[in-house]
Amino acid sequence: MSAYSSAAASPNDLEAFFMPFTPNRAFKARPRLLTRSKDMHYYTPEGRPVLDATAGLWCANAGHNRDPIVAAIQAQAAEMDFAPPFQYGHPKAFAVSARIAALAPGDLDHVFLCNSGSEAGDTALKIALAYHATTGNATRTRLIGRERGYHGVGFGGISVGGISPNRKLFGSLLPGIDHLPHTYNREKQAFSKGEPEWGAERADALESLVALHDASTIAAVIVEPMAGSTGAIPAPVGYLKRLREICDKYGILLIFDEVITGFGRLGYAFAAERYGVVPDMITFAKGVTSGAVPMGGVLVRKHIYDAFVKSDDPVIDLFHGYTYSAHPLACAASLATLDLYREEGLFERVREIEPIWADAFHALRSKPGVLDIRTVGLVGAVDFESRSDGVGRRAYEGMERLFHEEGMMVRTAGDTFAVSPPLIVSESQMGEIVDKLGRVLDKIF
Ligand SMILES: Cc1ncc(COP(=O)(O)O)c(C=O)c1O
Repeated sequence: MSAYSSAAASPNDLEAFFMPFTPNRAFKARPRLLTRSKDMHYYTPEGRPVLDATAGLWCANAGHNRDPIVAAIQAQAAEMDFAPPFQYGHPKAFAVSARIAALAPGDLDHVFLCNSGSEAGDTALKIALAYHATTGNATRTRLIGRERGYHGVGFGGISVGGISPNRKLFGSLLPGIDHLPHTYNREKQAFSKGEPEWGAERADALESLVALHDASTIAAVIVEPMAGSTGAIPAPVGYLKRLREICDKYGILLIFDEVITGFGRLGYAFAAERYGVVPDMITFAKGVTSGAVPMGGVLVRKHIYDAFVKSDDPVIDLFHGYTYSAHPLACAASLATLDLYREEGLFERVREIEPIWADAFHALRSKPGVLDIRTVGLVGAVDFESRSDGVGRRAYEGMERLFHEEGMMVRTAGDTFAVSPPLIVSESQMGEIVDKLGRVLDKIF
């Protein structure tokens, strides 16, 4: 078969692509193909619209194929395709870093750029270790994540991550890792809107880990302000502040993984602002370019940057980086995206529509089999009863039905539908999302 012609709108051979996080055979037997996108919609090869209730994969926060982002990428591609980020620089790398730093709270003033959330997670963990090593605390090597956490798929990320299938086939992972307990308790939190009242005390488990390992061995704690991939679990009221206090008490670095919560998803540039907590590092990706070009990064506080960057000698400060750190296309896309967020007030918009969204989404409570509904910012998750043939099968059927029968894209996690539409979603489209989910919940029970 010829591999020379450019791909047809409908490929007739799906075999070669080993799809990530996908049941390949089930997909290839009944594909969900997308060929075009604009604003709130994807379009199938036949031209059928698919309402995007998940911003692609939590990333197209400004909506799809927005004209200024497309134009910025096209112009950059024509002007300069690539510039090495080691020992050379290009203006947009510095401009975009300054723009991102200006959006972050406190003295999170410096940005290390990479290409994905996974790279951002591993970068932050490496910076934490190197920071302690260079500041005379080389015994601080232990990294602490949280059960049900997701920090991408690098070895660092899966080691601190807390989702069993992402870890169990991949050997012994990094040594010296421990985990906080997750913060979900259905009995105490079911059907909360926003942050649940119960659960701040779960942060106290960090005190127990300090008692067990001793603070002098602990480098950093990494958590998502809202655990996304496990099914959208918002932080309990006061939980993140408590973690910050305990980290301060023992000299432990606190890292927020804001790969999902960054760039407006919870109504602020970063969720750190919503929660009034300044972590030592923030990882980001996805919404930084509205998904248009891969990009990720780590915001670090001044004291961390200063620990590495302290001399005029021409010696490398941090032995870490990626060929495509600060790729010109990504920087151009990000600058245009950040302009759009600002011009259209999209982060503020989420704050305004959050109560409307929450009320609309919680209406699904009356549907069959529903066990819990959670909303925070512009995120909604609905848990429902599993089928007797296994966890996740009912959700897969629902996702297929939503795509083929209702023309809508959602995420699934076990038997949970998670939705996170682009921040430009209209009120009538919010209603459409809830109606489509409701009809499919009726069908899968
Ligand atoms: C919280 C969080 N961290 C990290 C990642 C990994 O990002 P990527 O898939 O870009 O490597 C994700 C992806 O969903 C995420 O949700």
